[in-house]
Amino acid sequence: MTLKYSRKVMENFLHPKNMGEIKNPDGIGKIGNPVCGDVMWIYIKVGKKKEKEFIKNIKFKTFGCTAAIATSSMVTQLAKGKNLDDAKKITRENVAKSLKGLPPIKMHCSNLASDALKKAIEDYKSKQTQKT
Ligand code: FES
Repeated sequence: MTLKYSRKVMENFLHPKNMGEIKNPDGIGKIGNPVCGDVMWIYIKVGKKKEKEFIKNIKFKTFGCTAAIATSSMVTQLAKGKNLDDAKKITRENVAKSLKGLPPIKMHCSNLASDALKKAIEDYKSKQTQKT
C-alpha cells in the first residue's frame, strides 16, 4: 500500500529540523510504539523569561517511519520558544494540522511526538521538585 503524504510531511521527513540530542538536557521524554517497535526521544533545555519557564532548546531522535520523523520535527518547531504551559497543550491534531494533514492510518500510530514532549516537560518538572 502506498501512502499519500502532504508536501509538508515530505519536507519535514527529508529535511527534519532540530534532529539530534542535547547534552545534559533539563528534561527527556521517550515514547515507544508497541505495535511497530518504533521509538522517539525529545530533549529539552528550559530557560526563564520574566519569571516564566520556556523551551529554550529542543531536539529529537526518532527511529521510525516517515510520519514519525515528520511529526517529531514539527513538534520541535511548534514548541521552541513557547512557555511550558503552552508547549504542554500542543496536541496530535495541532501537529497533523501544521503538517497539512496525515493519512488517517498514520494519525494515531506515528503521531506520538506531542506525547513525548509532554513527558519531557513532566521529567523536567519532577527534577525541579526533587531539587527543592
Ligand atoms: Fe512505527 Fe510509524 S510505523 S511509528
